[in-house]
Amino acid sequence: MDGPPIDELHFEDAPNVRTAVPGPRSKERIDRQARIESSAVAYPKRIPIAIEEGKGATVRDADGNTYIDMFAGIGVLNVGHANPYVLDAVEAQTRKVVHTVDFPTEARLDLIEKLDEIAPGDLQGNNRVVFGGPTGSDAIEATIKLAKYNTGGDGLIAFRGAYHGASSGALSLTAGRKYKREYTPLLADVTHLPYPYPVRQDLSPEDAVDRALSNVRELVEDPYGGLANPAGIWVEPIQGEGGVVVPPEGFLPGLREIADDNDLPLIVDEIQTGFGRTGRWYASEWEDVTPDIVPMAKAIGGIGLPLSATMYHEDLDTWEAGGHVGTYRGNAPAMRAGLRAIEYIQDHGLLAHARDVGAYIRDRLRAVAEDVPQLRQVRGRGLFVGAEFVDERGRPDKAAVNAVQQYCYEHGVLVWSAGRDGEVLRLIPPLVITRELAETALDVVTNAIREVCSSRSGSGTV
Ligand SMILES: Cc1ncc(COP(=O)(O)O)c(C=O)c1O
Repeated sequence: MDGPPIDELHFEDAPNVRTAVPGPRSKERIDRQARIESSAVAYPKRIPIAIEEGKGATVRDADGNTYIDMFAGIGVLNVGHANPYVLDAVEAQTRKVVHTVDFPTEARLDLIEKLDEIAPGDLQGNNRVVFGGPTGSDAIEATIKLAKYNTGGDGLIAFRGAYHGASSGALSLTAGRKYKREYTPLLADVTHLPYPYPVRQDLSPEDAVDRALSNVRELVEDPYGGLANPAGIWVEPIQGEGGVVVPPEGFLPGLREIADDNDLPLIVDEIQTGFGRTGRWYASEWEDVTPDIVPMAKAIGGIGLPLSATMYHEDLDTWEAGGHVGTYRGNAPAMRAGLRAIEYIQDHGLLAHARDVGAYIRDRLRAVAEDVPQLRQVRGRGLFVGAEFVDERGRPDKAAVNAVQQYCYEHGVLVWSAGRDGEVLRLIPPLVITRELAETALDVVTNAIREVCSSRSGSGTV
């Protein structure tokens, strides 16, 4: 087995918060940042921490406090911070060559071959990969261009609750009003249809799927459906920012069928769900659906190096040289990192581990939900976990999630949120988190939920 076992990857003392947080050094850096950086900076406004060092599924702040990282740089660090097996290859590649635009390097070719080895469904052996800019948003831009180029259409079909990125094309597909309100008009012909979300829609899982699929079918097939020239269907196999919303069984296969019936590409956005996050390489595998186009980013860069890619069926490889361009078309150390990260996940059985630890985390949360009614639903697959909170009148409760996040931060666990109203606690730790660390983290998270929910119902603030 190459690389150290997962229990050797982390700071041994985590969690250990020995100052009031933020400590003086974190505070000093955050104040300095606030003086000189854009007001667009967002993350430290939610958790005021200056990260000094990361190891595995743990981080240390500038004051020496250590935390269990259930946030992983927003779903990026699947093999953990500074994974030595990955780091060694990155260092060696960095000394050799870093930037080659798209001239071939071994790092590039090895990664493409490895991506083929783990490609979802029938894409294995039948795909091409394009690298553009290093962000997920850029991969989404590539998918829009590829779909338009191949279909001649310009109508994009997406879903309510979707997040696909923040550049103009990607933002057109993103559903969240807060991200786009000031920047319209974006792409002209985008239609957002309901995503099956039974608990929010107050529907049975079957009805939620029927409703979602019949909307898509009518839009595409009804001569008066309204969309003139559809170019494709963009979907997250589990909505991430939208609240870790796992669609009920049948939704993805149903979309596959509609896409096939109408000669439309199905674009499955695996940017947040890919590379083992859900306990399979790609979340679409849970329902045996083969996408036509798969944008990927985040964890593909191994230890957080910026890289994105788009894999698509080879039949769609019709564009010419320069079909999707950018100065950064793949960075050799990031490609080495991606390759090594996949090897590490394979060698250490991390897909099964993610399924086991994810199930454990959901069980712990569900046990709390039995006597804390504000914890309305616990869901997810693998280490992609969401817990949705409502107040006593059943309304989305963002304030509860924020209070849980603050409690966890003060007790040495970093967690994040999601959801259309910010009402979902999102746990997305590195896949290398050990069962022991997950147990410790869940002791903190479950205490946080109990304390926050009892004080909120007791004080009449709900
Ligand atoms: C599903 C999904 N698609 C696209 C993106 C955009 O990726 P990036 O932030 O790297 O541009 C994200 C980012 O969170 C995402 O979760």
